[in-house]
Order: sequence, then C-alpha cells, then structure tokens
Amino acid sequence: MSTHGEIKRVTTNTLQWMKQHGEKISMLTAYDFSMARIFDDAGIDVILVGDSASNVMAGHETTLPITLDQMIYHAQSVIRACQRCLVIIDLPFGSYQGNSKEALNSSIRIMKESGAHGIKLEGGEEVCDSIKRITGAGVPVMGHLGLTPQSIYKFGTYAVRAKEEEEAEILLHNANLLEAAGCFSLVLEKIPAKLAAEVSAQVKIPVIGIGAGPHVDGQVLVMHDMLGITKDFSPRFLRRYLNLYEDISDATKRYIKDIKDKDFPNEQEQY
Ligand code: KIV
Repeated sequence: MSTHGEIKRVTTNTLQWMKQHGEKISMLTAYDFSMARIFDDAGIDVILVGDSASNVMAGHETTLPITLDQMIYHAQSVIRACQRCLVIIDLPFGSYQGNSKEALNSSIRIMKESGAHGIKLEGGEEVCDSIKRITGAGVPVMGHLGLTPQSIYKFGTYAVRAKEEEEAEILLHNANLLEAAGCFSLVLEKIPAKLAAEVSAQVKIPVIGIGAGPHVDGQVLVMHDMLGITKDFSPRFLRRYLNLYEDISDATKRYIKDIKDKDFPNEQEQY
C-alpha cells in the first residue's frame, strides 16, 4: 500500500508511517509560491524552505548571510501554495546557536508568522537543549547531520563527511541524541551510504538523505539542482531531471530575437 494520492495532508505521523511501512519519502526545497504550487500538486511529501535560499535565490556563496526575516518571507510564500505536503523551514545561521531561548523564539516566529509545520536546524549534541525546548513548545524539529553548510568555515570544504571511523561514530552518537531530544526526522547530508544505512536502521525516526545513498527513508534535493537551473554544481549524488538552464536561456534568446525582428507582438497579440 502507498499513501501517494490518498492522504489529504502529510504530517509528521505520515512520515513515521512511511518509514515503518517502507514507503520512501520525497522531499524538495522550494522558496516561492509558484514552484511550491507545482511540487505540491505533483504530490511531493515534504517541502523544505532551505537556507540554501541564501545561495540559489540571493546569490550568496554560503548559507550564512540569510536572515530570519528573509526565511520567514520565503516560508510565507511557500505555505500559501501548499495544500497537501508538510512544509519545514530552516532556522538560519545566527538565529538559534546562542542559546535554547533564542532557538525557541526564532522557531515561534517562524511558526506564527508563516504558518509552517515545523523547523529544521543543524548540529548534534550542542543543539539538543534547543531541540528539547522547541519540541516542548509543540514545534516539530528536523535535525541535520553530516555536511552542515552553516559550519562550512569550520569544515573548510564541502567534501564528504564522516569517512573516518572516529567522525562516523560521533555522527551515529549524535543521531541517537537528536532522536532522544525529540526530533521527528533527520537529514543526513553527504556521508558514506553505509553509514547512512546504519543510522537509518538504528533510529526509529525517518532519515532523509542528500548524497547519503539509497538505504535511508527518503531523499531530498535542492530544486535548482534537480531541475538543472544551476549548471556549475555537479556533485556525484545529483540527478538532474531537466536542463532548465539551457531551456530558459534558449527561450530568452528567442524572445529577444522576436522583439528585435519586430515579430512580437503580432496582429493577434495586441488590442
Ligand atoms: O538548505 C537546504 O537546502 C538543505 C538541504 C540541502 C537539505 O538543508
């Protein structure tokens, strides 16, 4: 049995059900109304309003500059479009690392001002107090381990994480801590498939991978990568379903040409 097409609204309970029944969870990022409407209508299970908006929407090199106000703006736009999927919003860098009260306040602002269904934050043991406090207030929290882009200046590279045994053990330990702290789900980014499989088998909450192999409970991609809008980003884990960069570029060139040639607008395209 599959939940696809049957359920009215995907909830955190639905994701738990999917894990228990072996139905894979589909997740994509979105940042605006129009794309979120297409993804929701197509049946995506979860939309993540990722802080990758800092890269793909605002053009920053890292996810660090995006603000809580900017995340809330994107979240509001996405929420207006979605009738079926679960919508999760990233807590941006600087909005939760200070202490658990700051983390709770930022989460409450997101929930109140956007109408989202939950938040995601990066980190392991160091964010557990915040997770307890946020979930204690009734807000679902998704964790994020492995390559955590908000720590890019600590890592110094976007290379695969936890290849060595010591880091793998810490990651596994942190996954258990996040589950115990109350996370309803976990994202694992860019880690060996074997380790991701181990995490997914060990924790009861759904594990969603990006560059973490097939033996997890679901997959997420950044929409611009999945649709081929970004063309200079080609990690091994990425499968492109369209080549929109080329398609949009061709359409733009044809539009420019039609204007220059005085072909657009024609007789039928005017009043
Ligand atoms: O911000 C983002 O897009 C993310 C995904 C890569 C999981 O965190």
